[in-house]
Amino acid sequence: MASTDARTASGVNGPTRARIDAKTLREDRWWLAPLATFVVFTAFVVYATWRAFEGANFYAKPYLSPFYSPCLTDECARLGAADFGTPFSWWQLSPALIILIFPLGFRMTCYYYRKAYYRAFWLSPPACAVAEPHTAYSGESRFPLILQNVHRYFWYAAVVVGLILSYDALLAFRNEQGEWGHMGLGTVLMVVNVVLIWLYTLSCHSCRHITGGRLRHFSKHPVRYKAWTFVSKLNAKHANYAWYSLFSVAVVDLYIYLLATGVIDDPRFF
Ligand code: FES
Repeated sequence: MASTDARTASGVNGPTRARIDAKTLREDRWWLAPLATFVVFTAFVVYATWRAFEGANFYAKPYLSPFYSPCLTDECARLGAADFGTPFSWWQLSPALIILIFPLGFRMTCYYYRKAYYRAFWLSPPACAVAEPHTAYSGESRFPLILQNVHRYFWYAAVVVGLILSYDALLAFRNEQGEWGHMGLGTVLMVVNVVLIWLYTLSCHSCRHITGGRLRHFSKHPVRYKAWTFVSKLNAKHANYAWYSLFSVAVVDLYIYLLATGVIDDPRFF
């Protein structure tokens, strides 16, 4: 047992906590999950930052990268990718920088990702039953972490993003001439991606609250009860969908980059 700790009496140093010298009594490989999260998130952030700032190679007809959708600048129009017009025709930087705040904000404030990156990057705590190195803890009750509460609003933006990506996936069934009836590997990847994006969006904790929250009697709201039951089932796998959709977005973007730079050709099924 440790002697009385003179540091701030909060968290594991709180007066009601047992005094234990060991950082943890766990003997399993508890560090594996935060380490994997750290490596994958870091790789994704580096990749996404490079792609978002590149401002090129984001469209290989008929495939538009999810990092750049909706594409709203003159550069998008020049490539034939401005399906929603060019309200930012004056924008000179990468078109991705206009819209990425919405999917990025949604993921950064996601309840699951918060848990994952608090553990992996801030060690707060690194894992269950592993003492954190910090001596003070204010949770998410103060600036800046109190801003995480905007997650519910980002959910609405994420629904709009999901609809736009669904439209992009639909357009991926056209060929280079704009005729319907095309299906390449890119089409398949975009459809899989949008399905995973929807699973991630609809399994969100905020979505669960929006569908079934603040009701006194489910019996008086049968439609919302059905929706809440459906979302609750998805919600149990929210962490999985968070990872799968993160990978699928990166894979689709990389695939389009390789097509646009001429490194590969798109295999066609019909
Ligand atoms: Fe993860 Fe809402 S809780 S997206």
